[in-house]
Amino acid sequence: MNTDTAPTIYLKDYTPPAWWIDRVDLDFVIAADGTTVTSRLALRRNLEQPAQPLVLDGEELDTLSLTVDGQEVPFLVTERTLTVDALPDQCTLQTVVRIQPDRNTRLSGLYRSRDGYFTQCEAQGFRRITWFLDRPDVMSVYTVTLHADKATFPVLLANGNPVAAGDEANGKHWAKWEDPFKKPAYLFAVVAGKLDVLRDTFTTASGRTVQLAIYVEPGKLDQCPHAMAALEKSMKWDEERFGLECDLDHYMIVAVGDFNMGAMENKGLNIFNTKYVLARPDVATDVDFENIDRVVAHEYFHNWTGNRVTCREWFQLSLKEGLTVFRDQEFGADLHNRQTARIREVRTLRAAQFPEDAGPMAHPIRPESYIEINNFYTATVYEKGAEVIRMIQTLIGRDAFRAGMDEYFRRHDGQAVTCEDFVAAMAAASGFDFSQFMRWYRQPGTPKVTVDGHFDPESRSYTLTLSQSNAKASDEQPYLIPVRVALFAESGALLPGSERTLQLTASSQSFVFNDLAAEPVPSLLRDFSAPVYLDFAYSPEQLALLLAHESDSFNAWEAGQRLATTLILDATAEIAAGRQPQWPETFTAACRRLLQTQAERGAAFVAEALTLPGEGTLAELLAEVNPEALHAARNALRRHLAEQLEGEFSGLYAALTVNEPYAPSREQAGRRALRNVCLGYLLELADAASYRLAASQFAQADNMTDQFAALAALANVNADPCPQREQALADFYAQWQHEALVVDKWLQVQSTSRRPDTLATVKALTAHPAFDLGNPNKVYALIRAFGANLARFHAADGSGYAFMAEQVIALNDRNPQVASRLARSFDRWKKFDAGRQAHARAALERIRDHAGLSRDVAEVVSRALGG
Ligand code: TRP
Ligand code: ZN
Repeated sequence: MNTDTAPTIYLKDYTPPAWWIDRVDLDFVIAADGTTVTSRLALRRNLEQPAQPLVLDGEELDTLSLTVDGQEVPFLVTERTLTVDALPDQCTLQTVVRIQPDRNTRLSGLYRSRDGYFTQCEAQGFRRITWFLDRPDVMSVYTVTLHADKATFPVLLANGNPVAAGDEANGKHWAKWEDPFKKPAYLFAVVAGKLDVLRDTFTTASGRTVQLAIYVEPGKLDQCPHAMAALEKSMKWDEERFGLECDLDHYMIVAVGDFNMGAMENKGLNIFNTKYVLARPDVATDVDFENIDRVVAHEYFHNWTGNRVTCREWFQLSLKEGLTVFRDQEFGADLHNRQTARIREVRTLRAAQFPEDAGPMAHPIRPESYIEINNFYTATVYEKGAEVIRMIQTLIGRDAFRAGMDEYFRRHDGQAVTCEDFVAAMAAASGFDFSQFMRWYRQPGTPKVTVDGHFDPESRSYTLTLSQSNAKASDEQPYLIPVRVALFAESGALLPGSERTLQLTASSQSFVFNDLAAEPVPSLLRDFSAPVYLDFAYSPEQLALLLAHESDSFNAWEAGQRLATTLILDATAEIAAGRQPQWPETFTAACRRLLQTQAERGAAFVAEALTLPGEGTLAELLAEVNPEALHAARNALRRHLAEQLEGEFSGLYAALTVNEPYAPSREQAGRRALRNVCLGYLLELADAASYRLAASQFAQADNMTDQFAALAALANVNADPCPQREQALADFYAQWQHEALVVDKWLQVQSTSRRPDTLATVKALTAHPAFDLGNPNKVYALIRAFGANLARFHAADGSGYAFMAEQVIALNDRNPQVASRLARSFDRWKKFDAGRQAHARAALERIRDHAGLSRDVAEVVSRALGG
């Protein structure tokens, strides 16, 4: 398959289905030689559409029989379709197919993982289970019966409610489930396996009882309580913030070790990557605990935003994903730390979405075409989509936003709808005119807002002139951009009455502030009120003032990031020209003040403020990237800070010790984060004392946050030999080799190392027994993480590119979704020099020319090559 033969699907071609499927009755017989699926579909012709034959979707199905109302009829099967002609307007179609889940390495459809069977149907996996109209606007009520060996697969689950179960001949048993809610096929799920279960109940605001259950591989029950608590908190939060109650009698979560993505919101039967369920203080970090909270919440929130109201077709993916990410972000902010939550969201957006939006895979949050839909589960659809929802809330306010959500559910509960429908509900509830705002759904690219400030002492007025541009937009029409601002006096005081949300709607527009005694310092784009690049000619002193005094913690942090960015980019140019970088005092002095005032500022905030912008984020700001110089410059600034602030770092390191028993609480997590930032800086001194400090933290830690932070610091040490580094890596593996998720950390800490021999290490690790090309988590930890290691992946000799090409090719047949995600490592290849580009092109062409290339990989590679 290549892009010449795979069709491009266009949003403009959407037509409603020619048939409805009102009821689905499925029977699964799971056996060693394959699974037999009998399906009975209650079909009804859509009389609003021209009469058409029934064309069902299917993939890799061995069709054993087909009847219509009990009669055999002729039908035509091709590679991906089954056609039946001349059907009555209503009928029951029965098919029997055989599938081979044990050989399903794509992890889409029904597949085996260790000792169980699991499903993943979004986006188009259901067609790998049975013949169907596999599109989200076809919604049906399902009953499912599962049959399997009782001893090997004691647990049999499907969506909805258990209605009957029993034993049958030859040691087999069966279970029948009914899901009363109409749903699209992508929300279908079944599970068969030997699993332990943690149970609880939740009573909803209106007094209904929901049975909760988390199923995991035997022996892992002690790693489930955090996820259960997260589920209960999510349920409560959605009632309080959005008035949304759980509609189910049973809400089940099943954790599986082999999973392409994070988790899946199947109705009443979520299936999760173990990474987002399992946690215990000694195996999971503070960040892991927080991610579990957010992913559990995300999938639960989908029950309303995604399941009760779903997408008309896959172009509308951001309708459910952008909105649900926004909801899980808000939940995480309420549960943990609103200030640092926003900072981390923006860090992620800049690291993943801005580069995507500037590269060959750029697309609007609602794409207009695709070849393979799985390639569009992206940072743009998810993270930028969430930013667009957040802008709606910023423009109309929290109360109107809540009213808009109520209106959305009042209008569309039980329907498959579009992004316009969502925005129309928001408009109806608020009276706000969103016509210009819709551009955010249609244009790719990150807009750039350039701001100029002018103070006129005569009139005591300050004029901000904002201009916008977007290099990637296909038309020149301006966006509606909410820009939150405030003005500060030179004393650092916020000027009363200066807090405003400007609505930039023209290409260039001025806003006047009156009654000012002197030229103020503007704080622009507070709380990151729009996903744009913002340009203003700040002086270092102005930035230092904002870092010290801005009460909007995002913009305080942002001021520090701007200071650091200028220093690193200037140093990059110096290093590239063979000169020594210079470090002006402003940033160092600001960092010293942050460390001295950490108690008032909050340790978590200070930890974020002392974390320099990442290399990938910085690279986006350069026309041509010299990855070695950039890497050297960033590290040189870290070393400079370590030298200048050694006393502060070691003093705080000692002072921030947590003495209470571990809890992933806001307070403790903040202390650990800052203490480990201090440790990281101390290791920049590259002396034996700092290595011993890290080694002793590694050895004494009673929690994974501290143990892993010490390991990560040591894994970057360049000195050879460095016995502490070698010992820590060896001990960590010895200690945790039987905890798959911790082994992933061990792989990733090596693939993301700054050390020059990282590629050799990664290559060696691909042959280590801990690595498994069939397990997505392992591939992401070792290979994809290496692709994000700027200096090492973009090695001048092309060795990183050649390695990645090999891995993409090795995975192409086995798991195209994962292979395609690896291929995305090449996205920014045109930002490098001619020598590197030649190597990258050769690697991309090698992939392109591989026989039997999946359409997932073909689409990514052909876009990268400019086809
Ligand atoms: N809808 C899932 C989520 O919230 C995403 C997902 C899980 C997915 N597994 C997938 C998407 C496999 C495509 C393929 O976030
Ligand atoms: Zn989602």
